[in-house]
This record gives sequence, structure tokens and C-alpha cells, in this order.
Amino acid sequence: MIDTVSALPRTAIHELLGSRYPIIQTAMGWVAKPELVAASCNAGAFGFLACAVMKADEVGPAIDRVRALTDRPFGVNFHMFQAGAAEIVDTIIARRVAAVSFGRGPDKRMIARFREAGIRCVPTVGAVKHAKKMVDLGVDMLVVQGGEGGGHTGSVASTVLLPQVLDAVQVPVVAAGGFGDGRGLAAALAWGAQGIAMGTRFLMTRECPVPEATKQRYVAATTDDIFVTDRLDGMPQRMIRNRLTARLENAGRLTMFTTALASAWRLKKLTGASLGDMLKSARDLAHGSEGSFAQTLMAANAPVLIQRAVEQGQPDEGVMATGQVAGRLGDLPSCEELVQRIVREAGERLAALCAARA
Ligand SMILES: Cc1cc2nc3c(=O)[nH]c(=O)nc-3n(C[C@H](O)[C@H](O)[C@H](O)COP(=O)(O)O)c2cc1C
Repeated sequence: MIDTVSALPRTAIHELLGSRYPIIQTAMGWVAKPELVAASCNAGAFGFLACAVMKADEVGPAIDRVRALTDRPFGVNFHMFQAGAAEIVDTIIARRVAAVSFGRGPDKRMIARFREAGIRCVPTVGAVKHAKKMVDLGVDMLVVQGGEGGGHTGSVASTVLLPQVLDAVQVPVVAAGGFGDGRGLAAALAWGAQGIAMGTRFLMTRECPVPEATKQRYVAATTDDIFVTDRLDGMPQRMIRNRLTARLENAGRLTMFTTALASAWRLKKLTGASLGDMLKSARDLAHGSEGSFAQTLMAANAPVLIQRAVEQGQPDEGVMATGQVAGRLGDLPSCEELVQRIVREAGERLAALCAARA
């Protein structure tokens, strides 16, 4: 069926999540706050509120704040291994948000609880085996993030991972990692995905709460400035090169240890996480293997150092997590301008392909 406002087909994103367009704004810690989520949703996308870096008692008020700014449906992102996760699950169920996203953690029972409450489960995966596992657990839809993506990321590019996952599972799949325009949306639909999910592109919008000094660093970054390192927390993470990443790349064990110690202390204050919570978090992040004490401390680096750049506006003293796509984006449109541009471009691409066939 063809949508009358554009040549875009209606997809499972419309049916399951209720957004106007097949575009998801993904969760980004310290970035996808109520203002950005509401702006994305009001523009016709489906936004996820980033709650993985919040204290449990901050989640309910943040959901209420989104509701005060938009009457559109939206989702919440959290991690089962964050402090107060059980309380956060209860809050999400009580507030009846439209969807949840999460990485590793939830079990069948938890997913069944969400689904019984009418809440769609839409985890992000970066590997075929994780996609299959999530489907076995009963999720409604998958976001598949190729290695181009921002935050913790895998090594298989979207062009290879997306068709692999599409072949491996029966649930609707949304493409993520490296998407930023209407050509990408048209390509994702052509692959058989239900739409696109974007983090970095929504970070680079006017309504995004990231301080201007940091946003300008994203605008200025080229693809050569963006790299992947595991020096931050032992897991591959994509970021923009700066003074801090140069220091981390060259740091000896003592500097790494003191940086991680300071981060762990700050994270404890920010999220209320105990050392036990952090140990569990580090273990889960490291694919279930037993994390060493040093790894546990290092796991605190990512949220704390990302916060310094993207929330506190210190681009050289923190980590600017990003997708590779920032290297080819040079503007900060409003969410409305962005979504309209993507929908128009995608519609034009799809119409041109159909015309060429005729
Ligand atoms: C600054 C930043 C913070 C992020 N924080 C989170 C997070 O808290 N939880 C999460 O599941 N993913 C997080 N991600 C990953 C994004 O949700 C998304 O999967 C990724 O950005 C998609 O790739 P793209 O940037 O190429 O669009 C983050 C990404 C960025 C760039």
C-alpha cells in the first residue's frame, strides 16, 4: 500500500510503533533527552528516550516530560544491568510507553511482561547470533546496527550484516549504522528492512540538547577524524579523535587505572550504582565473561567521559561518541526539516526507480 503523502510504503514501523514515517531516533545516553525525543516524534519519527544513564527515580519524570511535549508515541531505552533496573521496568510498564529498547539482559519472562502490557520490544543487535537469540526471547522487531554505527559497535558493516539478519529471522527488521538521508532510507527499504534507525543524525539537529561547542565538532569532523578504539572501556567504541582520545591511546596502565577510578567514582554518584552493580554491568558488557576489577572500573569510562563532551560541553576533555556518518554530515537541521528531507529524498529515489522500470 502506498502512503498518499509520499511514495514511501507503509511498513511494520507504522503498524507496531505508530509513527508517521519509517524512521526511528535511537537512544543516546545524555543526548536523547525528552526535548529531542519529543521533537523527533513531533516530526513524524519514533523516538527512544535514553534512560540507561539515569537513576531509577529519574525515569518516570523524564517519561512524563516527553508526554508534556508530544502526544505522539515514543519508547524508552534501558539496560537490565543498570542500577535500579527492576524499578525502571515497573515504571515503564506503569507508564505504558509504546516500546522498549535494550541491549543484552532481559529474559523471556520480562519480555512477556512488556508485551502483555502492550509495550513493543525492539532491541538493537550487532550480530546474527544476537538477533536470533532476541527472536527466541520473543521480541517484536529488531534494530540491526552495522559497524558504521555510533556507540559500542561491531565490525560487520550494514551492507553485510543487514541482509544476513534479514535472512536469519522472521520478525520485522530496521536498519541502523551509517544512515543519515533519504537515499539510505530507500536503500534500506529495498533490502527488505522496515525503515531506518539513526543516532548520530539526530544528535546533529537543532533540538538536540548537546552544547553548541560540541555539536560544532561533530559538524567539522571528517571520516578521517572518526575511529574505533577499545581503550575507553575494553569494548570497541566509535568516536571523534580529540586530545583525550590521543591521551587514552598512548596511556600506560597507571593512567588508565586512575582515569577509570575517577570515572567509576563519578558514575556511582550519578546513577547510584554500587560496586556490585558495576561489576555485573562490566560482566554483561563483556559478553558474560567474568570481568576483572580493572575492566569493571573501565566500564564506567564510557558514560562518564561521553557525558563530559555531550552534556557538559567539554569536547576536548570528553569522548564524542559518533557514527561514521558524522564525517559526511555538515549541518544541524531541525528535526522537522530533517525528517521531511529524508522522506522527500527517499520518495524521489523510489519513484525514480519505479519510473525507470516502466
Ligand atoms: C553519543 C551516542 C550515545 C549513545 N548511547 C547509547 C545508549 O545509551 N544506549 C544504546 O542502546 N545505544 C546508544 N548509542 C547507539 C545508538 O543508539 C545507535 O544505535 C547508533 O548511533 C546508530 O548508528 P548511527 O550513529 O550511525 O546512526 C549511542 C550512540 C551515540 C552516537
